[in-house]
Amino acid sequence: MKNNKYKYILKSKTQKFFEEGYQRTFLPINRSINSFPVINSNSKKIKIWCTNDYLNMSHNQEVIDESTKILKQVGTGSGGTRNISGNSPYHESLEKKIASFHNTEKSIIFSSAYTANQTSLWTLCKAFEKLCVFSDKLNHASLIQGIKNSGVECKIFDHNNLEHLESLLKKTNEEIPKLIVFESLYSMNGTIVEVNKYVELAKKYNAMTYLDEVHAVGLYGNKGSGLANYFGVSDQIDLINGTFAKGFGQIGGYVVGKTYLIDYLKTFAPGFIFTTSMMPSTAGAISKSISIVEQEDEKRKYIQEMSNYLKNLLRINKIPFIENNSHIIPIMIFDAMLVKKYSQTLLNDFGLYIQPVFYPTVAKNRARLRLTITPKHNIDDIHELIYALKKIISPKDSLISTKKQFDYSI
Ligand SMILES: Cc1ncc(COP(=O)(O)O)c(C=O)c1O
Repeated sequence: MKNNKYKYILKSKTQKFFEEGYQRTFLPINRSINSFPVINSNSKKIKIWCTNDYLNMSHNQEVIDESTKILKQVGTGSGGTRNISGNSPYHESLEKKIASFHNTEKSIIFSSAYTANQTSLWTLCKAFEKLCVFSDKLNHASLIQGIKNSGVECKIFDHNNLEHLESLLKKTNEEIPKLIVFESLYSMNGTIVEVNKYVELAKKYNAMTYLDEVHAVGLYGNKGSGLANYFGVSDQIDLINGTFAKGFGQIGGYVVGKTYLIDYLKTFAPGFIFTTSMMPSTAGAISKSISIVEQEDEKRKYIQEMSNYLKNLLRINKIPFIENNSHIIPIMIFDAMLVKKYSQTLLNDFGLYIQPVFYPTVAKNRARLRLTITPKHNIDDIHELIYALKKIISPKDSLISTKKQFDYSI
């Protein structure tokens, strides 16, 4: 192929996507320890309403001190993969810490939860000659990639629909090994799933379970150890995945489970074996963050109270959002162009930063503003937000009112 042909193919794909209205913007922001949730963007002070630094642990002074101390002692990079000179006491103690946080036998850490999901699922699926995966329709891209890349059979069940899941399990040959892949808290809808019911089905049909708790760890369950813990089944899920980047405010991901499963992943997962390990100072900072998060019941309670307060004001003001029991509040706008316009107006006219969410993060025509609250947001912040939302989103807006009864589950 001629050189300019490559360029033509790639450029026209990007251009077509942009023309359909799906071009993403990446707002440069300077977060500040002293002023959060007020941050700086293009020399303007704005308030952030879309962070995943749920407990604002990225600004915790003890974590920063721990990270700085280790950084000064051992330097920046780890020096290699875990296998080739990149294993430190900080990595090992983090693995012990996160396994005990989930009350499981063992853990394996990765450079991100995305990598953790992709490589763990790929590796797990590859172990069996004929495996059938049952995957929730709204599962995260990292879960989908892991399953798809492995080439195993995959049956998609409707979002959080246990009846549909059971009908698919029932139809599948008893002898075929099975794996149910799901999340405990769906980040774009804010749905909390009843993890115990998935465990029951898994037992009934003799299936393994892989649970993504990325948006739940730090915020739900005993000491923030997640929704599997909340529903009393953390010891009955085969593999639980989580992130260090949201509730713990750092970077990296992990999987926990029984020793034989983690040993299998440590032995065969390419995304663990063939990549440089995280910075030792990061591993140390995460361990510190976990210890602090375990003690943060007050903050967990505060976030739920503030979320409920905000949801109530949205209801009163007839601003449509997806009802759920979590701290994630998705305001449905549906149209990608419209959500971008709203986001821009919020930023320019009100100094509020809510990133517009649209395809392919969510399905086409399911665009939304996704709000999250941290312990640093207060009642006045909420009132300021509601005032701005009321100004820009009218309940009479035809686009919203005509689609009120829309099926959010797709
Ligand atoms: C459900 C889910 N799983 C996994 C990930 C990946 O997490 P990380 O940012 O640690 O790679 C995300 C990212 O937002 C997510 O939403």
